[in-house]
Amino acid sequence: MTSKKEPITVNKIKAMKRHGEKIVALTAYDATFARLEDEAGIDIILVGDSLGMVIQGHKNTIPVTIEDIIYHSRACANGIQRALLVADMPFMSYQASAEQAMINAGRCLKEGNADAVKVEGGEALAETVRRMVNIGIPVMGHIGMQPQMVNVYGGYKIQGRKSQQAKAIIRDAEAIQDAGAFAIVLEKIPRDLAADITKRLKIPTIGIAAGPDCDGQILVNYDLFGLADQFNFKFVRRYLKLASDIRDAVTKWGDDIRAGDFPKDEESFE
Ligand code: KIV
Repeated sequence: MTSKKEPITVNKIKAMKRHGEKIVALTAYDATFARLEDEAGIDIILVGDSLGMVIQGHKNTIPVTIEDIIYHSRACANGIQRALLVADMPFMSYQASAEQAMINAGRCLKEGNADAVKVEGGEALAETVRRMVNIGIPVMGHIGMQPQMVNVYGGYKIQGRKSQQAKAIIRDAEAIQDAGAFAIVLEKIPRDLAADITKRLKIPTIGIAAGPDCDGQILVNYDLFGLADQFNFKFVRRYLKLASDIRDAVTKWGDDIRAGDFPKDEESFE
């Protein structure tokens, strides 16, 4: 008999930093991957707006809608028993006003069955984060390189190399913490800056392309599994080669059909 696992809460995530336990986070977009990741002991499953690229095939995350996130969050929730499920709020679902943010974040919890939401933004978004937390919506921040700013940056460029920029990112981190966020994703910043922010904050930092000194790490699951092999990122470690395994399996199946070898008698009904 399998024992029921204690669900991860935002308080548990915060306590993990205090106890020096690394937080392991990974994206998922459907119930099957969410279930497998949950069974493997992932602490936070993020329904990332990266789904715009890996699921929908867009060149960036800009076209993703709140309906897309709710749909995939709801699917993931069906596969999860233990992990904290975080829904990533997409571009223009929270930037226009705190009211817009609260309504859409509320939908992620009510319709997407998420436990929390993630938003990109620093000092300028702090009041919106405060308003969301105050009405009962746990918020994860996301600072440094913010993919929803791709058109302003002119690409996915590392942020915080210049001292003025680094200081602004530190201010962003402190503002989002003070607004009540339970954790912050640090994306694509120099490792020393990520280490400095991690030391300054009481809430955990979850790094992606931000070096080893964050309180936790996150990756896009398609990258970890070697499914998105059209991209090659320095900060990704691939633990599987699923893209070539799938191509090989499908080629073999096609060959078997063409050779009259599929289905066999034992794969057919009388
Ligand atoms: O959209 C996403 O998948 C993300 C993470 C990789 C942090 O924001």
